Amino acid sequence: MNIFDAIRGRRSIRRYKREKVPLELIEQIIEAGQWAPTGKNLQYWKFIAVTDPCLMKMVKTVSPMLWGESPAAILICLDLKLTTPLLHEGVISSELAGFPAQNMMLAAHALGIGTCAIGGFNREAVKELLEDIRELKDRLEKLESDLKEVGR
Ligand SMILES: Cc1cc2nc3c(=O)[nH]c(=O)nc-3n(C[C@H](O)[C@H](O)[C@H](O)COP(=O)(O)O)c2cc1C
Repeated sequence: MNIFDAIRGRRSIRRYKREKVPLELIEQIIEAGQWAPTGKNLQYWKFIAVTDPCLMKMVKTVSPMLWGESPAAILICLDLKLTTPLLHEGVISSELAGFPAQNMMLAAHALGIGTCAIGGFNREAVKELLEDIRELKDRLEKLESDLKEVGR
């Protein structure tokens, strides 16, 4: 798709098919985000793809402005250690997240996937959710390695 067609054709989508988004398409979309410019080339983001229906429900619970039953979400996380000096210079965090967000929405549109930027979520709750997931992952990995050690 021509870049101008993608820019003109992308619209916010709030009703979704119940189909899973193939992982390779999500990876392509995230790669488009990674090509976005960053202040001082600090590359201060991490992108987290949520595709598990149960996790999607949790994300939705803490995002009152996320309408419809989206099968996937990409969370754009800013590394505050890197961005705080820029924020002090008067840049705002939605500007920093906006560049990769637009790249990803255009890439998704070119791949036939509808998207909507969501600013209406509870930052603290999403942060807590991500911390809980990380903790659970660490525990599962520890359990797995313990089981390996006892030869199961
Ligand atoms: C920073 C930002 C935050 C947004 N937050 C929400 C949101 O929480 N929920 C929502 O449904 N749309 C959200 N939108 C989508 C806008 O409502 C949408 O882009 C606008 O109405 C123009 O429509 P279009 O994207 O179809 O051109 C957001 C857009 C931006 C840029």
